[in-house]
Amino acid sequence: MKTNIFKYFACFILLFCIFSLCSLAWAQKKPADPISLKLEGAKMAPVPFSHPVHIEKAKIDCAACHHKDKNPKEPVGCLQCHQKETKDNVADAKKAFHKQCITCHKESTAKGVTAPVKCNECHKK
Ligand code: HEC
Ligand code: HEC
Ligand code: HEC
Ligand code: HEC
Repeated sequence: MKTNIFKYFACFILLFCIFSLCSLAWAQKKPADPISLKLEGAKMAPVPFSHPVHIEKAKIDCAACHHKDKNPKEPVGCLQCHQKETKDNVADAKKAFHKQCITCHKESTAKGVTAPVKCNECHKK
């Protein structure tokens, strides 16, 4: 009886280890992609943003978006500089996102590579 319980217990531990390793490997293979962009207090649905789509598929330079970072390859994120309100001529975060994302998407769409320009194409419910 005792050995039986021990066997079940060992089996359980083994399964648990396998499961943990699997989920760890899974987590490492899949960095957050897309990342979900959502400003504090946002009312619209969060916007999915995929680095691979922009870097690999559309071949856009880091610095095109991470435009003020000393090292665009190790950026700090837009919200460090673009805050809730426009301050010292630095656009507020919503304006910064809209201007950067939508301007390029319009140019791209005009050139025949379709990218989202309508509200609900970015703010996906
Ligand atoms: C190219 C993608 C894109 C399009 C198109 C777009 N937005 Fe946004 N919008 C964003 C991103 C990114 C943010 C910042 C993250 C967030 O959603 O909070 C944002 C933020 C916002 C915010 C401030 C946060 C909130 O939810 O209150 C509002 C309001 C907003 N958008 C409304 C609109 C409306 C209305 C339209 C259509 C006229 C629109 N957006 C089109 C990408 C887009
Ligand atoms: C098309 C625009 C675009 C391009 C190109 C781009 N990024 Fe980003 N990146 C973003 C946006 C938007 C965020 C989210 C910023 C935020 O949440 O404030 C982000 C976030 C990041 C972050 C997280 C920063 C943080 O601490 O919040 C890193 C790291 C990053 N990008 C690295 C890169 C690197 C490296 C490249 C080039 C190989 C690159 N990005 C190209 C738009 C872009
Ligand atoms: C280190 C600070 C810093 C970071 C990080 C930063 N910006 Fe900016 N951004 C500025 C400053 C300062 C300006 C205004 C002056 C200028 O353009 O020279 C600006 C201007 C802009 C403008 C033009 C706004 C207008 O009214 O014409 C857009 C669009 C923009 N930023 C988008 C972004 C986005 C999107 C990110 C993140 C991917 C980002 N910025 C990251 C500092 C920053
Ligand atoms: C410099 C140009 C440029 C900028 C800036 C840019 N995009 Fe894009 N985006 C593209 C292009 C080009 C495509 C189409 C890629 C394709 O399908 O080949 C695209 C596609 C997308 C798509 C649809 C594909 C997908 O990932 O599902 C989303 C969503 C998107 N962009 C969100 C954003 C958001 C949000 C921002 C601002 C934070 C942004 N983009 C900034 C050029 C840009």
